[in-house]
Amino acid sequence: MKGLKRFLAAALCAAMLTGMSGCTSVTDGKRIIRIAHAQSETHPEHLGLLKFKEHIEEKLGDKYEVQIFPNELLGAAQRAIELTQTGAIDFVVAGTANLETFANVYEIFSMPYLFTSEEAYHEVMNDTDYMNQVYASTDEAGFRVLTWYNAGTRNFYATKPIHTPEDLKGLKMRVQQSPASVNMVKAFGAAASPMSFGEVYTAIQQGVIDGAENNELALTNNKHGEVAKYFSYNKHQMVPDMLIGNLKFLNSLSEEERAVFEEAALLSTEVELADWDQQVEEAKKIAENDMGVEFIDVDVQVFRDKVDGVQDQMLEENPNIRELYDYIQEVNAKYTEEGAE
Ligand code: GCU
Repeated sequence: MKGLKRFLAAALCAAMLTGMSGCTSVTDGKRIIRIAHAQSETHPEHLGLLKFKEHIEEKLGDKYEVQIFPNELLGAAQRAIELTQTGAIDFVVAGTANLETFANVYEIFSMPYLFTSEEAYHEVMNDTDYMNQVYASTDEAGFRVLTWYNAGTRNFYATKPIHTPEDLKGLKMRVQQSPASVNMVKAFGAAASPMSFGEVYTAIQQGVIDGAENNELALTNNKHGEVAKYFSYNKHQMVPDMLIGNLKFLNSLSEEERAVFEEAALLSTEVELADWDQQVEEAKKIAENDMGVEFIDVDVQVFRDKVDGVQDQMLEENPNIRELYDYIQEVNAKYTEEGAE
């Protein structure tokens, strides 16, 4: 796998160096659209991207061919975003944690216990008109988010059982390469070790870290359940993944073409969301029965209390998240008992 990654990266570099920038490569008269992502070919996001490809090729197949590169083949999230930024590739799927350094409004999704229900999370993310304002925040960086994908709820998992925040003390936990996630894990009382997704398995296996935090699919699709046998439902974050496109490319499309790409993006989200819950259920069964992972139900309130001050601290430090935060609170209230009263 590593060899293949190196080969692909080298091929891409060679293409760029010879002046055939990845962005403008043409085969059989068709413009090649390259999309990079970090998941396996069975992951809901890959299935969503196949729909994206299908729709574009059905409508604009005489002009465009879409190629999807899964499994971090073109590099881990940060690198793949940079390739999208420069136009070496056209699209990438990455979590918002990776966008924080480009537009700090995205820090909000790293805030612990931001959404109080899945319903509120989905309602906010599906409010395309509202989210489009947020998506424009990386225009200066040269890319634009087109749509979101559900990446579930994030929880701690480790080589040791975690029942209360006390159990996190002294543990070294991998976090995404995001300043806000580092702060969050520290607030929980653990040591934070930022690294890319693809490095996590080996780091746990070699004892470099004690665990990580993610959704259930990380246990199966990424095989982390082979090396970390305890998954605790403390539910600290719902962090969406984003389909990100090179802005120059998007702006080069005619109005009709742009509409097709945007339609394709929304269709890909529909497919991804429809598949998500079922894949999580399957992953739980496989992790428990075949990999011997123990799922631990914890008192979520105790974890919530532990990081109580983090939301206010983040709001104070980053005024750019205030408006979105207030909007999310309104949506949260619709789905909580207090809100219903
Ligand atoms: C999830 C998420 C990815 C993210 C990864 C991580 O798999 O879907 O976008 O990169 O977690 O923790 O790095």
